[in-house]
Amino acid sequence: MKMIIVKDDLEGAKLGLKIIKESLEKDALKTIGLATGSTPVSLYNLLRESDLDFSNTVSVNLDEYVGLSGDHPQSYRYFMETHLFEAKPFKKSYVPNGIADDLNKECADYEKIIEENPVNLQVLGIGANGHIGFNEPGASFDSVTRVVDLVPETIEANSRFFKSIHEVPKKAISMGIKTILKSDKIVIFAYGTNKASAIKKMLENDITEEVPATILKKHSDVTVIVDEDAATLLNQ
Ligand code: GLP
Repeated sequence: MKMIIVKDDLEGAKLGLKIIKESLEKDALKTIGLATGSTPVSLYNLLRESDLDFSNTVSVNLDEYVGLSGDHPQSYRYFMETHLFEAKPFKKSYVPNGIADDLNKECADYEKIIEENPVNLQVLGIGANGHIGFNEPGASFDSVTRVVDLVPETIEANSRFFKSIHEVPKKAISMGIKTILKSDKIVIFAYGTNKASAIKKMLENDITEEVPATILKKHSDVTVIVDEDAATLLNQ
């Protein structure tokens, strides 16, 4: 893993932009994997303002809440439309449909979409509990796209976006860990002291399903971009 410590999220976003730009210029960005949450917002701001052209790039998002339609303000489809896609259209943008009648079929179809559009570069954030996508602690490293239960810690963490904690969906569709690892390249971002423990565990713990992000150590091309706050607990 390549680790880069930056001053703040804007510096992190600039590095992310550079990596994406280089891939595009090499014509090596047929498909990009995208994440939601507060972490990638600074990157999406820079992408929106950039002159990069994604009209030949497909995007696939990591996850979506079960029960929220794409026009619900807290759905990840809505997040992506407003933070990126409206200003920067892609050739095609896939986000799982959280209100599909048959959720298992939706998951199988989504996995097939990824098989047909292998991800060249996956943007990731990390949960305070070490989750990636919505693969919570204990998720199998062999997992593929499926419906998952969110743990109370994640529901609590994400309740900041909802009027009340009771409105936070308890389930989501998430790309699996095996799915995420198929990406040619992974860039994971983390900012703030509330991510410091997860970053320490990811980098310093043994690989364990109890901390899903630890599996990234097995991937051959991972760049970790963290700010000074998220790096505070690391052994140097
Ligand atoms: C969310 C998402 C993840 C994200 C993580 C961190 O629940 N499912 O993809 O990386 O949790 O979110 P944030 O960037 O808001 O801290």
